[in-house]
Amino acid sequence: MDLFEALKLKKACRDYTREQVAQADVDKLVYALGRAPTASNRPYRHCIVVDDPAVIKAIRQISPSLLADPPLLIIIFTDMTVALDKVGEVGERCSLVDAGAAGENVLLAATALGLGSQFTMIAAMAGVQTILGLPAHCRIDLIIPIGTPAPSAKSVKQHKAANQVYHNRYGVLR
Ligand SMILES: Cc1cc2nc3c(=O)[nH]c(=O)nc-3n(C[C@H](O)[C@H](O)[C@H](O)COP(=O)(O)O)c2cc1C
Repeated sequence: MDLFEALKLKKACRDYTREQVAQADVDKLVYALGRAPTASNRPYRHCIVVDDPAVIKAIRQISPSLLADPPLLIIIFTDMTVALDKVGEVGERCSLVDAGAAGENVLLAATALGLGSQFTMIAAMAGVQTILGLPAHCRIDLIIPIGTPAPSAKSVKQHKAANQVYHNRYGVLR
């Protein structure tokens, strides 16, 4: 699929079928994730691919905003020790930007593969951390549900005001 077609089709999916995501597609999603940059080219961003229904169920139980019941989760996290040691204080913010970039790559790749996905950021990250056995110096940044969109999957209209574009300086509309 052409990139601009994927950009046009991409939308948050909150309703999935039970169909498993093929391993070849999981590999492509992980590849897309890894194509996103990290600040100073430091290796602090990682992911966990979760396809164990018991683990997904446990995460869903403490994540009210994870509306979907997907067959797959890709969880992006940052090793904060590496981010802060190698990038300095700004590594805290840089790594969040990098996680977002990686997440968007996953969403676009999922769209190109005919899969549904969405960003999820939840309040109960500490609980998810425990479920996944992640050490304290790792910060969970994004939880991305992925799967085949159910025929009933609805989408919301994207908020236009979130994408105001100015020309040369703030206040001058383009
Ligand atoms: C950082 C971030 C966190 C989000 N968290 C959630 C979430 O917890 N639950 C959810 O259903 N959608 C979540 N979303 C999805 C947005 O609500 C969705 O992208 C927005 O409504 C626009 O819809 P669209 O992606 O279909 O254009 C999140 C999006 C972002 C960027």
